[in-house]
Amino acid sequence: MKNNNTKIALATLAAATAIFTGCASHCGHHCCSLSARHDGAKLFGTAPDGAPVWLYTLHNKNGATARIITYGGIIQSLEMPDKNGKFGDVVLGYNYLDGYVTNSPYFGALIGRYGNRIAKGHFTLDGVTYTIATNNFPNTLHGGVKGFDKVIWHVDASSPNSLSLSYASHDGEEGYPGNLNVKAVYTLTDENAIKLEYTATSDKDTVVNLTQHSYFNLAGRGDILSHIVYLDADKFTPVDSTLIPTGELRPVDGTPFDFRTATAIGARIGQDDEQLKFGKGYDHNWVINHPMGELGLDARVTEPTTGRVLEVWSTEPGLQFYSGNFLDGTIQGKGGRVYQFRNGFCMEPQHFPDSPNHDNFPSVVLHPGQTYHNTIVYKFSDQ
Ligand code: BGC
Repeated sequence: MKNNNTKIALATLAAATAIFTGCASHCGHHCCSLSARHDGAKLFGTAPDGAPVWLYTLHNKNGATARIITYGGIIQSLEMPDKNGKFGDVVLGYNYLDGYVTNSPYFGALIGRYGNRIAKGHFTLDGVTYTIATNNFPNTLHGGVKGFDKVIWHVDASSPNSLSLSYASHDGEEGYPGNLNVKAVYTLTDENAIKLEYTATSDKDTVVNLTQHSYFNLAGRGDILSHIVYLDADKFTPVDSTLIPTGELRPVDGTPFDFRTATAIGARIGQDDEQLKFGKGYDHNWVINHPMGELGLDARVTEPTTGRVLEVWSTEPGLQFYSGNFLDGTIQGKGGRVYQFRNGFCMEPQHFPDSPNHDNFPSVVLHPGQTYHNTIVYKFSDQ
């Protein structure tokens, strides 16, 4: 008992010290308290290692807001208007840090060093075979055991409508080569878009594939099966039963993967199709038609009852469209809402899954002296 009390006292002291240190390094004296920073950030919680986690609220002139936390670079909420001008939160997540730390299927997180799967946690680069942490048997998913979604990001700058975060991933972290310096700039524009600009540099050859893992629900509740999706993709990358691409780029013609004509998510999701069975629904990478490196429209999603529209723009060659097939009613999120099967969908612009093991996929190798760039825009409107 005494031992426990001592532990609790020490943990509280460590948290308080960390918070004051955060304040001191960030804003000098008398400018922040235990729960707020001079730049308007609010204390969201304390990470398991005692470090404070801050919440930044970005605003635009229309009254839209984006809340971002320094743990995992997570977009914790996005409040956007519907066709009647009524604001509502369009992303899934938690009100408290604990949920994100202990039981989150990557809600709203910044994903890295490698988005989606790498087969059996192995890849070969410059003749060296690397073994990375596996966390999704038998594969690596979203970086490994402790990906970029589970680290605390440093705040480089903030303004009423933007936040710049950075993270220094060390050589060997989760098994990846090279010290990787990553920057992520979030901007909430007056066009009701949240724009994410990711850049990274490395001191050794490495592989990088960053993305954003928000679960959207444009109605703010219920399943997403009546959301209508358009995807600018003539092909997709079929997978094996462990969701690793086979290497084929398969035309979508005549398959339930053809979203070149806007179609409800639920219209074909139950079809007797081997790929839909492997994914338990949609959980695949589409090969985006517009040129890689240029910002173009990947996807447009509309929700008939609220009139909300989400456009996904990116510079990436692929888009992972995931229909929330692993949500199963065991998570109680914001506002006490229980997230049932397919209550949210993700649109993750990125390079193709398992690219380091497929020479015919666009390369994910980053060399020293080069800068990795990836821009993603989630733009909201109504109709
Ligand atoms: C993957 C899913 C995975 C989910 C984790 C998605 O990006 O494609 O297979 O289950 O992330 O929440």
